[in-house]
Amino acid sequence: MKILYATSEAVPFCKTGGLADVAGSLPPSLAAEGAEVAVVLPLYQQVRERFGSQLEFLCYDYVDLAWRHLYCGLFSLEKDGVTWYFLDNEQYFNRPELYGYADDGERFAFFSRAVVRMLGHMKFWPDVLHCNDWQAALIPVYLKDDGVREDRFLSIRTVLSIHNIEYQGRYNPYILGELFGLDAGWVEDGTLLMDGDLNLLKGAILCADAVNAVSPTYANELKMPYFAHRLDGIIRQCEYKLYGVLNGIDMNLYNPAEDPRITTNYSLENLAGKDEDKAALQKMMGLRQEPYTPILAVVSRLVSHKGLDLICEVLHDIMALPVQLVILGKGDRKYEEFFHWAAQQYNGRMAVSLDYNEELSMSIYSGADLLLMPSKSEPCGLSQMIAMRYGTVPIVRETGGLKDTVQAYEAQWDSGNGFSFANYASGDMLYVIREAVYLYKDYPDVFSRLRKRAMDCDFSWARSAKEYLRIYANVTGQHAALLESPPETEAAPAEAAPKAEETAVPETPAETAPEAAAAEAAAPAAPVEEPEKSEKKTAGAAKRKTAEKKSAAAPKKKKGAAK
Ligand code: GLC
Repeated sequence: MKILYATSEAVPFCKTGGLADVAGSLPPSLAAEGAEVAVVLPLYQQVRERFGSQLEFLCYDYVDLAWRHLYCGLFSLEKDGVTWYFLDNEQYFNRPELYGYADDGERFAFFSRAVVRMLGHMKFWPDVLHCNDWQAALIPVYLKDDGVREDRFLSIRTVLSIHNIEYQGRYNPYILGELFGLDAGWVEDGTLLMDGDLNLLKGAILCADAVNAVSPTYANELKMPYFAHRLDGIIRQCEYKLYGVLNGIDMNLYNPAEDPRITTNYSLENLAGKDEDKAALQKMMGLRQEPYTPILAVVSRLVSHKGLDLICEVLHDIMALPVQLVILGKGDRKYEEFFHWAAQQYNGRMAVSLDYNEELSMSIYSGADLLLMPSKSEPCGLSQMIAMRYGTVPIVRETGGLKDTVQAYEAQWDSGNGFSFANYASGDMLYVIREAVYLYKDYPDVFSRLRKRAMDCDFSWARSAKEYLRIYANVTGQHAALLESPPETEAAPAEAAPKAEETAVPETPAETAPEAAAAEAAAPAAPVEEPEKSEKKTAGAAKRKTAEKKSAAAPKKKKGAAK
């Protein structure tokens, strides 16, 4: 199976958000499962500056985009069993930022056009071209457009991953021919037209052979107007080819036992280092040195869908609890100003860094006790998984991937790996924050077991990579058995993929069955209860109900994990 993964950003080369983390770690995991994988991305200025000496120049060609005849260089680099291709055009990509320019539409139309036209220069002709978000959304459209004239393009199947449906790539329809080089038919038949605009993501959803949302719950949410930013009808229309595969994280990069970025390393068996990291964080952020006060952290872009309004509404009530609050992130001015102002009221108890700072974020994940993510919507969310890996217990709203990765603590079963609330309401959020803070203060042993359960969750990419391979098998008709025998592990029979998860036995009522989840995730996701409509109930009761039926690929427990 030959996979070409097209993305506008990937770690370690360039990053503005979670897409880069996924694009940096999923392709190597696919390769580890036995697929031949290449990734293609633009050669941005920052990639040239930081990785230029490692890049090999392969060739150049010209790419036609409407009336433009444009240079396109092809560079590559081998890393982690994957070939990373970079498309060079200095006019479009030799700029300080990745996005945010007036001609972004033209820049990424060029990227998409160039991916298709440069295929012949790459090491293989792909079976599947896996595109991500609006920046690569024209690829399935161009493949169909070119396929009319050149048969060779007809053999390629396409998969579209939606990391956030809010960003759709919307443009004035008059530029269709002039800028994108496409015939008016693409608008006239409605493929690219949405609410009077050209909508690149809509075109990709319709043209791709499979559409994937980055968590099972998000796949279901996208069928609802509240979450879909007007594309719910299109998503429902395409439900037959809709999947929801939960993202993973790079468990080696995020490993508290070996991470050089944190003050003191620690592990599930010996958590002493985490106390030192907490003291270091308090020092670093100007907080009082109080080892027994829980640190509640927010590491987030400061934008509305992250649910920051809820925090603003009850900030003083939160600060009335015996807690310290740390906020890291930048974004909308109203949140930046509010948090900056609030921190001054709570000197020594609340600290804010209005920055995007990878290093500080690691100090927070390792030094904090609780991570707050009250998102209005969250396609997957990676922070909660990273936090759990570092023993920082998440408090989340039950949406998207947050719902799929966090199972609420339930006292009577001593179960769960975090705290959650269903309704987008500050009072409900405050209720669970209070529950978490007092569990920490009054029942340290119980909190410590909860922390260890969170740390013990397996969010590695291996299972999700298998699910992607099943999607690729579905769209190409290639037999899944060929995909499911990773070279270095024992061979599995054709139907063995779901069974391969059998070691992950749910150990508490709050756990979901990963084997069922793995099987279901390869099929169109089943409808789940809409959080906003769910009746008022305790977070725990809500979780038990969803745990019984949800299709979520819950974190796999390592055998004998419960401590
Ligand atoms: C986007 C989403 C986030 C997701 C990430 C990777 O940034 O907002 O929830 O985790 O993409 O898929």
